[in-house]
Amino acid sequence: MYSILLTGGMGFIGSHTATILVNAGHKVVILDNLSNSSIEVLEKIQQIVGQKIHFVKGDVLDTKILEKTLNDYQIDSVIHFAGLKAVGESILNPIDYFENNVCGSISLLKAMRLSGVKNIVFSSSATVYGEPEYLPFNEEHPLNAVNPYGRSKIHIEEILKDVCTSEPDFSAVCLRYFNPVGAHESGLIGENPNEVPNNLMPFITQVALGKLKKLNIYGHDYPTNDGTGIRDYIHVMDLGYGHMKGLDFLKKNTGWHAFNLGTGIGVSVLEILNTFKYENQIDIPFKFSKRRPGDIAESYSDSSKANKILNWFAEKDLNAMCRDAWKFQKNLKN
Ligand code: WQD
Repeated sequence: MYSILLTGGMGFIGSHTATILVNAGHKVVILDNLSNSSIEVLEKIQQIVGQKIHFVKGDVLDTKILEKTLNDYQIDSVIHFAGLKAVGESILNPIDYFENNVCGSISLLKAMRLSGVKNIVFSSSATVYGEPEYLPFNEEHPLNAVNPYGRSKIHIEEILKDVCTSEPDFSAVCLRYFNPVGAHESGLIGENPNEVPNNLMPFITQVALGKLKKLNIYGHDYPTNDGTGIRDYIHVMDLGYGHMKGLDFLKKNTGWHAFNLGTGIGVSVLEILNTFKYENQIDIPFKFSKRRPGDIAESYSDSSKANKILNWFAEKDLNAMCRDAWKFQKNLKN
């Protein structure tokens, strides 16, 4: 069993991954500055797993608190979720994105070096690929981000590569997420950004709830089957299991590795909207508006490397993603 630090573990992906790791018998410690989550999530995670979870309120830019946490809890592996993650925001605020994401990762790696921790799973993103030269994206596709968020992820992947070269017994797995959606089946945790949602699914669920008036569909003139953007949506629980498989892999392998985590199925905005409406029997008013800066037309994954090497497979379908996301949103209201 591992003793794992989850930086940003109170966020959307981190909280779901925490439940999976604890239920599998691992020891989990969460460090989070609560900038895009709330302390209530800790109680919900504990309710799901039926035990206390160690929580440290702190920022990854604070190397001292990281080093203290790694030592206090005898951590042997880190899953690094902490970071800013909105494409549009990164275009307006690149300095914050590079400071939080890149400098935060360097701070973490310095703390890991001081504490002798040599295993890291890094929360990367399909945005490292930028405009597709071919589809589906496989891990060999050139990296060419088209926004500061994606560029920050590339920088961190490259830093991890250099650390693995300088420290032969260091292990780093970069998980390139496609589009995480959905929620834990209990409806207790899910995607709940502190501000107006940037991502599509939480925007849809808040329109369904009546909290937001109407969905703006960004772009109806993309070269896709219905003119709207295509993405590879993956259930957040499938993504969480991918992290546990990544940890298992780290324990048997050193060096730098990257894996796509997606379903391999491209879904348009209109398709996921119609699936949501059908699955939950609820109408969602929308209007077509102009394209969003930084968006690409189409993105979907070739995740066969993770299937083969990690023995990981996405299992939940789009209906489950829509059903679980809505259940969480309704639960939040209550
Ligand atoms: C999906 C599609 C939009 C909102 C980003 C990051 C990725 C990951 C997920 C963090 C696009 C359209 C969206 C809306 C819309 N990061 N859309 N109206 O931009 O593909 O990926 O978030 O988890 O790394 O790059 O996700 O959900 O914002 O957009 O029409 O109100 O929905 O144009 O086609 P994106 P998204």
